[in-house]
Amino acid sequence: MKILLIITGGVAAFKSLELLRELKKQDHQIRCILTKGAENFITPLSVAALSGEQAYTELWDVTQEAEIGHIQLARWADGIAVLPATAHFIAKIAHGLADDLASTVILAATCPVVIAPAMNVQMWLKPITQNNIAALQAQNMYIVPPSNGEMACGEFGEGRLAEQADIIAAIKNSTNVDNRLVNQHIIITAGGTKEQIDPIRFIGNHSSGKQGFEIAKAAAKAGANVTLISATQSLPIPSGVNMIFAPNADEMLHAVHNALPADVFIGTAAVADWRVENTAQQKLKKTDTSDNLTLNLVKTTDILASIAVHTNRPKLVIGFAAETENLIENAKAKLASKKCDIIFANNVGDDKVFGKDENEIVMVDKTGSSAWGRLSKTNVARKIVDVIVERL
Ligand code: PMT
Repeated sequence: MKILLIITGGVAAFKSLELLRELKKQDHQIRCILTKGAENFITPLSVAALSGEQAYTELWDVTQEAEIGHIQLARWADGIAVLPATAHFIAKIAHGLADDLASTVILAATCPVVIAPAMNVQMWLKPITQNNIAALQAQNMYIVPPSNGEMACGEFGEGRLAEQADIIAAIKNSTNVDNRLVNQHIIITAGGTKEQIDPIRFIGNHSSGKQGFEIAKAAAKAGANVTLISATQSLPIPSGVNMIFAPNADEMLHAVHNALPADVFIGTAAVADWRVENTAQQKLKKTDTSDNLTLNLVKTTDILASIAVHTNRPKLVIGFAAETENLIENAKAKLASKKCDIIFANNVGDDKVFGKDENEIVMVDKTGSSAWGRLSKTNVARKIVDVIVERL
């Protein structure tokens, strides 16, 4: 693999030399760009000696720029890794600035970019730095978060350059192109719907949308064309995913039907089974005459069931079952009544799943059931993508 290392001016710059040696040992071809700041910590000579290539430092290099060197460098690389990435460099590329060779190459790059930040803990935790990191993630860059520990400045906390093995794994993962779901349209619902009682009150549930967003992310990573129909707007939209906001059961139903045709439908949303028949137009007032309020609730349409019998039925229709008792029996009953191909059952009792980063799934289909144990929602999503690939 051809890897372009961009070394910026932080105390951890010397660690880029160790990583360079390790990558060379693994037979990768490495070229390096040093920023002006990096040259305060390591020399172009040591980088050239270790990489076996010239060290690139100047944007305005007449010989290189005669051949538009910054574009050539960006196109040469299969992957780019910035380490250490200083707060200043992160801020610069988060805003699309291109005032030196390193930032110009990043702006011109079309290959995966891995960013390994290293800085003082307070600089890392500042909202401005976190916003810049979020901006880079939104541009599909891979962040290898800094680790906890004592820093060169004597302070302690998050900000140390990540371990070499983690950075190398990120470089390899980022350049692994997964095409398993290319040309497949997947519709995913996520989050808990809110059924308005009046303009300020609603009937809702504890679903955060995390599991659905993770599946959307994993499916998009595998090359799928993903439509994520979400009742929540509080999670970052996964890159490459088309998100449609649908706050209640009725809007979600219409958004899903409008998004057809699709190859796969996955219902992770916790959709309200009932809605208020007549939503009050103004805030309901307490009265002195009654201690009770009666709301008439009507059933919502079951989105999953409606998709499973649709004339345009996707090849795979997958539901989730959030249960607090009789997990498998209830999941099997839902598989049959909603006519879907797979139900992923999760026991949501004891506050174990809603809003958490982990889930405990049992996959139920016509042939039986298999328990996956407790996994991160990210890993559950990856396994679901594997199942989809296998079934399609
Ligand atoms: O969002 P998180 O905090 O990450 O939590 C994840 C989760 C627990 C919400 C998720 O893993 C999950 O279990 N989602 C389904 C929740 C649910 O509503 O289950 P249910 O058993 O009530 O519904 C069964 C299936 O029918 C679900 O696929 C649901 O999306 C679907 N349904 C239900 C009612 C309705 N009107 N329309 C539907 O499509």
